[in-house]
Amino acid sequence: MDRRPLGRSELVIEPLVLGGNVFGWTVDEAEGFKILDAYVDAGFTAIDTAEGYPNWVPGNPPGMSETIIGKWMKARGNREALHIFTKVNSANKPGGLSAQAIHDGVEASLARLQTDYIDLYFSHWPDPETSHEETLGAYDPLVRSGRVRVLGASNYSAQMVRDAQQTAIVKTLPRYDVLQPRFNLYDRAEFAALADVVAEQELGTVVYYSLAAGFLTGKYRSKADLGKSPRGGGAEKYLDAKGLAILAALDTVAAAHDATPAEVSLAWLVAQKGVSAPIASATSVEQVQSLAKGVRLKLADDELKLLTDAGQ
Ligand SMILES: NC(=O)c1ccc[n+]([C@@H]2O[C@H](COP(=O)([O-])OP(=O)(O)OC[C@H]3O[C@@H](n4cnc5c(N)ncnc54)[C@H](OP(=O)(O)O)[C@@H]3O)[C@@H](O)[C@H]2O)c1
Repeated sequence: MDRRPLGRSELVIEPLVLGGNVFGWTVDEAEGFKILDAYVDAGFTAIDTAEGYPNWVPGNPPGMSETIIGKWMKARGNREALHIFTKVNSANKPGGLSAQAIHDGVEASLARLQTDYIDLYFSHWPDPETSHEETLGAYDPLVRSGRVRVLGASNYSAQMVRDAQQTAIVKTLPRYDVLQPRFNLYDRAEFAALADVVAEQELGTVVYYSLAAGFLTGKYRSKADLGKSPRGGGAEKYLDAKGLAILAALDTVAAAHDATPAEVSLAWLVAQKGVSAPIASATSVEQVQSLAKGVRLKLADDELKLLTDAGQ
């Protein structure tokens, strides 16, 4: 399969990133190890996590996802073969991208991951109180020392990205090379608003909620289906005329390829201009194998158009 560079950065990956928010939430450590093994066995290397995953689960210590991934890398001795993405300011709070927060955050993430470098470090959410100069200035020594290889920004608007890139030029600081916005067949507006800046700045993109938190797998077709996963409640907002039109198009294309709606959803994302790789999580080995099949599936132009037009 064609590997893809993440923008102008030195990172080159297969077009699938494994989402880590499920580790310590809907997936325990033992199942997590199996999922991670299956993912690398399928030929992939990039894993996305965050200091805040999944801190919303009552009783969880901070950063359980990083801890599970760190234990697994240690057990397998495979750190060098992987691309580890993590994020600071997961709590989305003012001051979350201050120099102090970044200093503390990166050290805690490195310790939990049991590694001495992060391949791609994201500002998880913008921080309205901290200047780009302070944030990028805090990243500067981390990049120079090799503790962080590449920087990314998640949930930033096009204007925020432009402002940050301008600051990097004027102040001779490292720039963001990768964006992590939300993008899937249903939620397209955020990515569309970034298209120009992605092209202009030659940015890589790894897009999240590729399966709309499970809705695009087709397992939720009515309110009665929402109990099928602890995450089913998150799919309720997609159960409208637009969501059902997208599922109908997915069913048509999936039938032609002996594939599933989840696989076709990923194939559509991989084919979109400006997308480097979709991020998707899995709660079983079978789901990992399905994600791998999806990003390797090639759709015809008329199939891509049918999907694009559904729910426009
Ligand atoms: N930057 C940000 O602000 C941000 C925000 C959200 C997420 N993310 C990243 O994006 C990743 C993915 O997000 P996500 O996990 O919330 O949503 P997602 O990838 O859209 O949905 C994944 C969920 O769908 C189900 N699934 C996956 N493959 C399936 C298959 N083949 N058949 C049936 N069901 C399948 C699984 O849940 P069940 O088995 O429980 O149904 C899985 O956890 C996260 O792990 C995280 O790394 C980033």
